[in-house]
Amino acid sequence: MTKLNIIRPDDWHLHLRDSPFLEAVVADSARQFARAIIMPNLDPPVRSCGDALAYRDRIRAALPADCPFNPLMTLYLTDNTSVDEIRAASESEFIHGAKLYPAGATTNSAAGVTNLSKIAPVFEAMQKYGLVLQVHGEATAAEVDIFDREKIFIDESLTHIRARYPQLRIVFEHITTRDAVEFVRQADDHLAATITAHHLLINRNALFRGGIRPHHYCLPVAKREHHRQALLEAASLGEARFFAGTDSAPHSLQAKESACGCAGIYSAHCALELYAEAFEQCGDFSHLESFMSRNGADFYRLPYNTERVVLERSPWVVPDTLPYPESSLIPFMAGETLTWKLSLND
Ligand code: NCD
Ligand code: ZN
Repeated sequence: MTKLNIIRPDDWHLHLRDSPFLEAVVADSARQFARAIIMPNLDPPVRSCGDALAYRDRIRAALPADCPFNPLMTLYLTDNTSVDEIRAASESEFIHGAKLYPAGATTNSAAGVTNLSKIAPVFEAMQKYGLVLQVHGEATAAEVDIFDREKIFIDESLTHIRARYPQLRIVFEHITTRDAVEFVRQADDHLAATITAHHLLINRNALFRGGIRPHHYCLPVAKREHHRQALLEAASLGEARFFAGTDSAPHSLQAKESACGCAGIYSAHCALELYAEAFEQCGDFSHLESFMSRNGADFYRLPYNTERVVLERSPWVVPDTLPYPESSLIPFMAGETLTWKLSLND
């Protein structure tokens, strides 16, 4: 196999930040993806439809001229999100979901939901109006072991949300465990999951290889190898309710290389090539297109993209650093060789 030709993919979980960082990263995603679900964890967060539409305009203004990249917006749920806001979001052609960040779970989640019971009417409304719930699925209690947070969230929260709102469509974001894969597999078609390229490519050893590796730190944190194997299987077997979401999350070099470094891996610069690298490990590309370009669109009830992209087997070295305002950005796999290269003349 020397060429892979697939429908232009979408990224179902992406952090683009805001100006001036937005301008530094958005072209990376737009080069590969037709659309992306844009995460709302700005500071202050994207809480209303007005916030989302204004952010969408800023993203479009930051794109290269004539670039057709389509940002799909989502709202940030707080304890105070209103049912009216949910109804308005469901009526907007630009808003495709609302994101649940348990307060304290990750970057800019302080304004997130403190107790699920506080937003019961919001879940009710999302179910009624058909707005997709995107979930950062980690338990936040300080005593919970960081490697168990996803599993405990499934047992203590997600199972109950699913039982109480059976028609609510949910995306379990950036899953990292075999437990999550099994939970999604056993559920009906109201539950799907995104999988990042980095969780397909590294396990938790990568955080400590020869010393502490801040550029491999993200949330949810990478888990043991047998969990990575479960993710690879879910992605590569073509199961319909698993799809690509990079969770590319840029932080400056200083913010990462710090005594208390930020969580987030920047993978957008070569996300599709990274996913191809993961499928290469499985030796089977037959479901690359469904994972990258069809399953997510089906779940979000959007049409497939009409353009195609081509990857060539042509090893290349990922740059050591990328430009980022007043700093630099260390990309995932910096200095490493990747097998597949996006072809510019598709
Ligand atoms: C994300 C970020 O930096 O915004 N960080 C991360 O480690 N994934 C937030 C998130 O998705 O958890
Ligand atoms: Zn994220």
